[in-house]
Amino acid sequence: MIGLTTKQKSSTTIEVIQHKNGFELFENLMNRKASLAIVGLGYVGLPIALEFAKKMNVIGFDINKQRVDLMKHNIDPSDELESSAFANKTIDFVHEGEKMASAQFYIVAVPTPIDAFKMPDLGPLKGATKSVANVLKKGDYVVFESTVYPGCTDEICVPILEEVSGLKLNKDFKIGYSPERINPGDKKNTIDKIVKIVSGSDSESLDIIAEVYKTIITAGVHKATTIKVAEAAKIVENTQRDINIALMNELSQIFEKAGINTFDVLEAAGTKWNFLKFYPGLVGGHCIGVDPYYLMQRSLNLGHYPTLITAGRKINDDMPSKIAQNILEELKNKGKLPTESKILIMGVTFKENVTDIRNSKVADLVQCLSKYCKTIDVVDPLADSDDVKKHYGFKLKEKSSSNYDVIVCAVSHNEYLNLKEEDFLSMSDKTGLLFDIKGVYRGKIKTMTYKSL
Ligand SMILES: NC(=O)c1ccc[n+]([C@@H]2O[C@H](COP(=O)([O-])OP(=O)(O)OC[C@H]3O[C@@H](n4cnc5c(N)ncnc54)[C@H](O)[C@@H]3O)[C@@H](O)[C@H]2O)c1
Repeated sequence: MIGLTTKQKSSTTIEVIQHKNGFELFENLMNRKASLAIVGLGYVGLPIALEFAKKMNVIGFDINKQRVDLMKHNIDPSDELESSAFANKTIDFVHEGEKMASAQFYIVAVPTPIDAFKMPDLGPLKGATKSVANVLKKGDYVVFESTVYPGCTDEICVPILEEVSGLKLNKDFKIGYSPERINPGDKKNTIDKIVKIVSGSDSESLDIIAEVYKTIITAGVHKATTIKVAEAAKIVENTQRDINIALMNELSQIFEKAGINTFDVLEAAGTKWNFLKFYPGLVGGHCIGVDPYYLMQRSLNLGHYPTLITAGRKINDDMPSKIAQNILEELKNKGKLPTESKILIMGVTFKENVTDIRNSKVADLVQCLSKYCKTIDVVDPLADSDDVKKHYGFKLKEKSSSNYDVIVCAVSHNEYLNLKEEDFLSMSDKTGLLFDIKGVYRGKIKTMTYKSL
């Protein structure tokens, strides 16, 4: 296959050079005669773009101009990366699709959310694929990183690429799928230290895509046998976590009735070498609480009803209302009226130590409680109050106050880990309830009423 490589000589002159095959494209990426474009610069796309920009010329494209403007000033709009992460990198941030035209290797990392009916919303993925298709040239490579159901890349993305560009897969251009396993907020398992699954539309593309990722992933790559296998592998990782957490959440409901602390049980059971360490909790965010719906949808399309996965999703999605019921029951036991009770919720992000509030189940808990309780103060040291207001309709309190009847520790941010009973007593009193969703203060609360999942 003969491909065209464009070399940016200056901002106005583009010299076109040819590469004979993917191996030459790889060489051209490494010697900076060719460039790599990342489409979608969010939690996933930006760290990858900056990692590649240490080794090769990168074009970072995002449709959101505001975000692009911040990145041009070395600011990560997702608040994950320090400005130093942008230093000494060869990267151009652009918000117009045409400006990706000089790239030859494209990586797509746009969101794959669900809609109001919990069905896959492929709008961003289709839009991004179209943007790439508009500038696709002979010899180019396109790798998808967004989490999708098995079959999506071949059935949805390839037809868009072929129809819009008029080119043919494997004759004129090649594709691959390489799921992202980044864990935002995790400073230990950084992107370079997580083995990368790669796949390609033929054996040459598999090798080339593996080589490209090996330049930034020190942990190495795993070559999946097919694109569908790589797609399924990612979705299975998150579905497995979802189901295991659902089991813990179901156990916590049983043990609540049995008067046993679930975390005590898990600590004891965890002494066996093959007991898996999962804990009950709220499953929010854009991965574990979303990806299984993609698999469920595909499963139904294939004629199989996914009993266990569906049940797991329902158990986890019902947790905010179960916790709210539990709190209301406790208030009743204490002879307190919900309408006159004051509640403090600590933490609103979808998990600890991140600023991300997408699909926050704490917000669902606030909504459930607000049907009965008038005063609910929500604090979070990391979340942005305007963002919370925009997405969920309530503002964060700058500071907690006092005389709370219920304190819910919903997210175990580092900042909360060392709080002691005196701290809670200063915001409540002995008749107060501390609902510790994650079991952080287990064994430390002696006078207040203590509950965890
Ligand atoms: N965030 C995670 O922890 C994580 C981990 C592994 C995999 N994933 C998967 O990676 C993908 C991206 O997730 P994310 O968290 O980075 O999303 P995100 O919402 O943080 O960022 C996506 C970016 O893509 C941009 N975008 C949207 N549509 C676009 C388009 N048509 N063209 C160009 N840019 C567009 C948005 O403006 C945004 O900046 C999803 O499929 C997600 O499931 C996410």
